[in-house]
Amino acid sequence: MKKDRIEICDLKREYDFLKKEILSQIQPLFKTHHWVLGEKLAEFEKKAARFLGCRYALGVSSGTDALVLALQALAKKLKKKTLSSRDEIITTPFTFIATGEAILRVGARPVFVDIDPQTFNLDPLAVKKAISKNTVGILPVHLYGLPADMKAIMDIAKVKGILVVEDCAQSFGAEINGRKTGSFGLLGCFSFFPSKNLGAYGDGGMVVTNDYSLFKYLKALRNHGQTKPYRAEFLGYNCRLDSFQAAVLLAKLKHINYLNSLRKKKAACFNQRLSHLKQIVVPPSAGHIYHLYTIKVSSRRDGLLKFLNKHQIEARVYYPYLLSRMRAFRSAKAASLRNAPKACRQVLSLPLYPFIKTEEINYICDRIEQFFSSKV
Ligand SMILES: Cc1ncc(COP(=O)(O)O)c(C=O)c1O
Repeated sequence: MKKDRIEICDLKREYDFLKKEILSQIQPLFKTHHWVLGEKLAEFEKKAARFLGCRYALGVSSGTDALVLALQALAKKLKKKTLSSRDEIITTPFTFIATGEAILRVGARPVFVDIDPQTFNLDPLAVKKAISKNTVGILPVHLYGLPADMKAIMDIAKVKGILVVEDCAQSFGAEINGRKTGSFGLLGCFSFFPSKNLGAYGDGGMVVTNDYSLFKYLKALRNHGQTKPYRAEFLGYNCRLDSFQAAVLLAKLKHINYLNSLRKKKAACFNQRLSHLKQIVVPPSAGHIYHLYTIKVSSRRDGLLKFLNKHQIEARVYYPYLLSRMRAFRSAKAASLRNAPKACRQVLSLPLYPFIKTEEINYICDRIEQFFSSKV
């Protein structure tokens, strides 16, 4: 019998679980016809802010826009009209393009520093070393859903008087000692891309902060710079989150703890099955909410990837290239990078989502064991 393909993320199963609630959130919109901004978005923002332990949340049109707006807010906090290529923002090269792109987009210069080889997140020591008189910000990413070392990063930032913006695109609900990612820095940025732990049915994102004046600024910024209807105080954007997405997100937010707990359980099954293999290091578990379940493969990673794909398993490499090596980032600065290039060669993300079945996990692990026990 032909085996069904095991996708890296199966959204149909999540929809089956949440269908009734999603539809009952969407249905009232057909009466009000408030499709942009509106009550659903306000309700979602209030509940999301409460969940994350932040005072304010603002829905925007994507995680990328969340980063761009947040970095503009950082400039405002510094009392600068705009950022320039003299203004440096320290971040990781081992992330999705959007992290570095947002820095360039607001006119600043990315400074790429090395990562910790165990967590794949920013190495605080490398951050400290890269600080110069031009550093205006640090932009940690909680990669794969594993929180970055925010205590160390915030300590460094505080001593040096530097602002921190968190890229939480992959970490909705992840926490460190009971405190959610996104609530440590001046601003936190989330993505609601469909495959994210809290995913919309289209693009979406959010910025959170405890700073009221930045909240007011961002609220106007996402809506053409309007502080009053049809009165623009400054140049803004059209990057609002629509009511339809807010309705989907409201339905999902209610269950996010449960959905994340399922991810943790499934990750524990993988850990149990894979830990004994000497070619594999399983991901650290503290605070992890497993947006991606990513193992480190010390030998024959590409062979394993091909083998799994051949057996109908959608494993993937996040990320095969460092931002610092891409042409788009040629104006960026890069510190000496040892662990980040190695990560590109060693990481492999396996299918993991709340409703993946135990037999599917076992099938994947059987194939991995088979690969390493033979010369395939
Ligand atoms: C780390 C990181 N930052 C930013 C983004 C951008 O989010 P979006 O796709 O919603 O624009 C993503 C999306 O995958 C991401 O993974």
